[in-house]
Amino acid sequence: MNPLSATLSRVRPSPTMAITALAAEMKAAGRDVIGLSAGEPDFDTPAHIRAAGIRAIETGRTRYTAADGIAELKQAICAKFRRDNGLRYTPAQVSVGAGGKQVIYNALMATLNPGDEVVIAAPYWVSYPDMVRLAGGTPVIVPAGIETAFKLTPEALEAALTPRTRWVILNSPSNPTGAAYAWDEMAALTEVMMRHPQVWLLSDDIYEHITYDGFRFCTPAEVAPELASRTLTVNGVSKAYAMTGWRIGYGAGPETLIGAMRKLQSHSTSNPCTISQWAAVAALTGPQDFIAANNAVFRRRRDIVLHGLRATDAITCPTPEGAFYVYASIAGLIGRISPAGARIDDDAGFATALLQEAGVAVVPGAAFGLSPAFRVSYAASDAALKAACARIAEFCAALR
Ligand SMILES: Cc1ncc(COP(=O)(O)O)c(C=O)c1O
Repeated sequence: MNPLSATLSRVRPSPTMAITALAAEMKAAGRDVIGLSAGEPDFDTPAHIRAAGIRAIETGRTRYTAADGIAELKQAICAKFRRDNGLRYTPAQVSVGAGGKQVIYNALMATLNPGDEVVIAAPYWVSYPDMVRLAGGTPVIVPAGIETAFKLTPEALEAALTPRTRWVILNSPSNPTGAAYAWDEMAALTEVMMRHPQVWLLSDDIYEHITYDGFRFCTPAEVAPELASRTLTVNGVSKAYAMTGWRIGYGAGPETLIGAMRKLQSHSTSNPCTISQWAAVAALTGPQDFIAANNAVFRRRRDIVLHGLRATDAITCPTPEGAFYVYASIAGLIGRISPAGARIDDDAGFATALLQEAGVAVVPGAAFGLSPAFRVSYAASDAALKAACARIAEFCAALR
């Protein structure tokens, strides 16, 4: 008898696992591997935020809290939405979870029934389709390729919506492409949403603060206030505040949805870590200037990677507006043979050969639903990025 649930069998094993395991194995064997697959900033959590966490421990703020967050954090989140996005939420419209990941999972679990469809643009963050499947829904994947700079067009969105569509998930700036919607592009998508009143919108804004070249971030509830009553705006402290391990994310939306998510969380994990909640209060209410300083570093690294990858003619990548990823298309390399004799049949084959023969770990596009491509995370040192790009160029030049 299979001891696992039918629900779990609907979910794919982590598509990045094979390459991560191979990289770990090679490192353990003493091979020189440059890892460009991490999904987190390589900066430390700022000192004042760490201090707030320590203070919480030392002043006894170590007990259970309300299931979906302390009042002080919810107030800080409401103030953040007012300050950064011009959105007016009340604390009752806010849910705090163990990362944006839990908030998204709660929303899908709380709302999906078998047969409900969720529209997701590809390339997508790896967890969206599997979360939808876990919640009993059906992911509807809409390709948003390099021709549209990895952005969903209003026409493609309209064509994907059916009477069964329950949610559309938007992620801007995006993991894995760094593409972000400008105000007019977002307005065109929200106009489509306006014509489909049964469909809800989940906006994953986790990379909001990591943008470049004067790009002005916008979120759907701000662009189309009429949609706010069916929009869940998700954000968190992981990326901009370098707090991935603290596990605090949040969502804001209609009270009925937030109440349903609270009910679910109260029976699964209960409150997110109390100490981390107090650290997140410090993050959201304290100085914000280090974000611009970190972004200047990320921008320099982005340009190192773009310059390094574009040295190879067969690799094409649009300039990302935000996040810390470059998504490189490699259609021109499929079918070639590597120096060690591996045939590059697809992007997983490319990533494996690149790792084995050149010692660079990247994530193949298959993980994100749009191939052939690979994702580079530039949350790494300038020196590591330069060395990795040189190895990639050399590897590609040697393909026959
Ligand atoms: C697009 C996207 N959304 C959400 C998350 C979740 O982040 P967290 O759970 O750390 O808030 C991530 C993390 O990698 C992400 O890339």
